[in-house]
Amino acid sequence: TYVVTEACIKCKYQDCVEVCPVDCFYEGENMLVIHPDECIDCGVCEPECPAEAILPDTEGEAEKWLELNRDYSEKWPNITVKGDAPDDADEFAKVENKFEQFFS
Ligand code: SF4
Ligand code: F3S
Repeated sequence: TYVVTEACIKCKYQDCVEVCPVDCFYEGENMLVIHPDECIDCGVCEPECPAEAILPDTEGEAEKWLELNRDYSEKWPNITVKGDAPDDADEFAKVENKFEQFFS
């Protein structure tokens, strides 16, 4: 499966939503996650994310995000239509450690 990682937090560009053939993205306040059981591993979303937040779960740091993607995809609503990114998305794209923002 592919997973959404830290770089999505407060960026939420949502280009990924438009290309996913199975609509397996779920939306929280500050980021999106992928439902690992629904993702068909097509990989088309990975290059579409301007923040490079989407990775295969086999890649080092992505592994720890798998659990979070699984948890929150059960709690958050499905998103199938791309909305607007936050006004300050480009600012947050430059911030490296954003995990504390996840809860803000
Ligand atoms: Fe959707 Fe394919 Fe990305 Fe999985 S890899 S989230 S199926 S676009
Ligand atoms: Fe997030 Fe990238 Fe999608 S910033 S909303 S994973 S396009």
